[in-house]
Amino acid sequence: MAENLIIEASLSKKDKYEQLYPQLKALLSGETDFIANLANLAAALRQAFGYFWVGFYLDKEGELVLGPFQGPIACTRIAIGKGVCGTSYKKMETIVVEDVNAFPGHIACSADSKSEIVVPFRFSKGKSGVLDIDSDQLADFDQVDKIYLEKIVKLLK
Ligand code: SME
Repeated sequence: MAENLIIEASLSKKDKYEQLYPQLKALLSGETDFIANLANLAAALRQAFGYFWVGFYLDKEGELVLGPFQGPIACTRIAIGKGVCGTSYKKMETIVVEDVNAFPGHIACSADSKSEIVVPFRFSKGKSGVLDIDSDQLADFDQVDKIYLEKIVKLLK
């Protein structure tokens, strides 16, 4: 397993993802424990991009429950179909929110969160939920994040 991530700060977002992906692949494929991998993935993404909050909500008997994360404390339970996370999970579609205040039903765990991306996954029972990333900047996420984060989340399978 790699001891350290190598991420050059001067790279574009796309190039950072390109640099990060093989390192994440090595990191996650070296461990079979799902929770350990969620924890390291949250840490790696926050370290690489410096986002305000990076974490997971997992489907536990029909409700999304807070899993491993990096950042300030957060809401612990989200109903499927509610908020950005619950909506993304229900539709099984990535949602990019440029301004959280403009998303009907957005759940504000922190007033500092301004934009958000949620990537859902359903691999098996106990391995289903969402990756949620919050930024304290407006419109911080775009199609580049969507493409790479969807690819990265598949590494958890
Ligand atoms: N904003 C999310 C809730 C989770 S926190 O951002 C960590 C939502 O609307 O589902």
